[in-house]
Amino acid sequence: MSIDAGPPGQLRIAPSILSADFGNLAAAVRGVDAETDWLHVDVMDGHFVPNVTIGPPVVASLRRYSQRFFDCHLMMDNPGRYFESFARSGADGCTIHVEIGDTVALIREARAQGLRVGVAANPDTPLDAVAPFLGEIDLLLLMTVFPGFGGQSFMADVLEKVRAARAIVDAEGLECDIEVDGGIDPTTAPLAVQAGANVLVAGSAIFARPDALAAARALRAAASVAP
Ligand code: DX5
Ligand code: ZN
Repeated sequence: MSIDAGPPGQLRIAPSILSADFGNLAAAVRGVDAETDWLHVDVMDGHFVPNVTIGPPVVASLRRYSQRFFDCHLMMDNPGRYFESFARSGADGCTIHVEIGDTVALIREARAQGLRVGVAANPDTPLDAVAPFLGEIDLLLLMTVFPGFGGQSFMADVLEKVRAARAIVDAEGLECDIEVDGGIDPTTAPLAVQAGANVLVAGSAIFARPDALAAARALRAAASVAP
């Protein structure tokens, strides 16, 4: 059974477990529950990005400890092979990268598994590459760093793309969330929200802080002052 993502367009804090203690994931995830909305799961295959992380077995394990919406970011060359496995493991949404191509078919395949569907674009991928899919997807992920690693600096240049995406989504009355991922902290979060993002992924700004729950609370407070 899938967890409800909540109304589209609403502010959502999505902690990325990439920066959490992988030896103590359940406690890390539960520790930020009170101040967060989704759980962002970064899946890296060592091909689309140089790094390797986790997959469906970890999603299945975490599912026993969290009732949050599991927002799985698939940084993979061949995500279609794994939709069924992610869905069976308890993923609620899967986001694929537009750079790998075959986007229409992959959206359809993910939907067929009952997943909420997102499409992601790297910082140097133009909005034109994802705009044709906005009416068919639940989430547009605009990367504010090049994917692969946590702890990188926010790329403010991407804000222009966020603004343009928000303009299309609002003008066409689409039910598509706009998510930003990479370098989001209490300083950059309000900029992203002002530009039109409503789902904020944060890894190091939450899990690399001594008090992750307080850090999540501070992030939400900073994001809520905008616009
Ligand atoms: C990067 C991942 C991000 C990452 C963000 O490839 O997609 O989700 O965890 O980490 P921070 O918030 O530290 O930039
Ligand atoms: Zn991510």
